[in-house]
Amino acid sequence: MIIAVDGPAASGKGTIARALARHYELPHLDTGLLYRAVGLSVLEAGGDPASPEQALEAARHLSSAFDDPGLKSEAAGKAASLVSVHPEVRAALLDRQRHFAGRPGGAVLDGRDIGTVIAPHADAKLFVTASAEVRAARRHGELVRMGLDVSPDAVMHDIRSRDERDSSRSAAPLRMAEDAVLLDTSDLSIDAAIDAALTLIQTHGRNAAND
Ligand code: DC
Repeated sequence: MIIAVDGPAASGKGTIARALARHYELPHLDTGLLYRAVGLSVLEAGGDPASPEQALEAARHLSSAFDDPGLKSEAAGKAASLVSVHPEVRAALLDRQRHFAGRPGGAVLDGRDIGTVIAPHADAKLFVTASAEVRAARRHGELVRMGLDVSPDAVMHDIRSRDERDSSRSAAPLRMAEDAVLLDTSDLSIDAAIDAALTLIQTHGRNAAND
């Protein structure tokens, strides 16, 4: 079974995707990490993530180590959003993602274009969202727990500009696939959001075991 989980930043899609992978005993790929690795590698080389040539060069030489804690930083997130605008970067990362989705037994992938581009034939597609206010509050809490001193307004501004860039780009913009089901986590705890995701997959997904 292939499960596609898409949605904007801090919507809860990563937490939900990991829980679904555990539940169905499937491998999980956080595709945002690929774009973050490309963005971070451009930054570390002193380059400009807005440059298609530099971003493509980084995408072509992407290492397979995705456990660098720097990938989770706001700087890497912003650079990821900038490099992900370039169609040539998206093309360079396509095979790796499709290959993962085609693993025997299936997989769970989360990102922005899984249900629309990477795995349009996924057995279950969730579009996870939450209000910008709730997402900004969650992201702010995460950053404060990491010991960072950031203002809630700055985080809200980042969330809004990332939403705008991810949704308005011409290559594989963030949008809900026509056959995806919407899960709004604004008023849900983590456990309630995971339960809701499982219920949606059991009612709407193909090949979903009802357990
Ligand atoms: O999910 P995330 O915050 O780690 O993603 C970081 C950026 O990467 C996001 O702002 C846009 C880009 N991205 C993408 O364009 N397509 C994906 N499938 C995943 C992420």
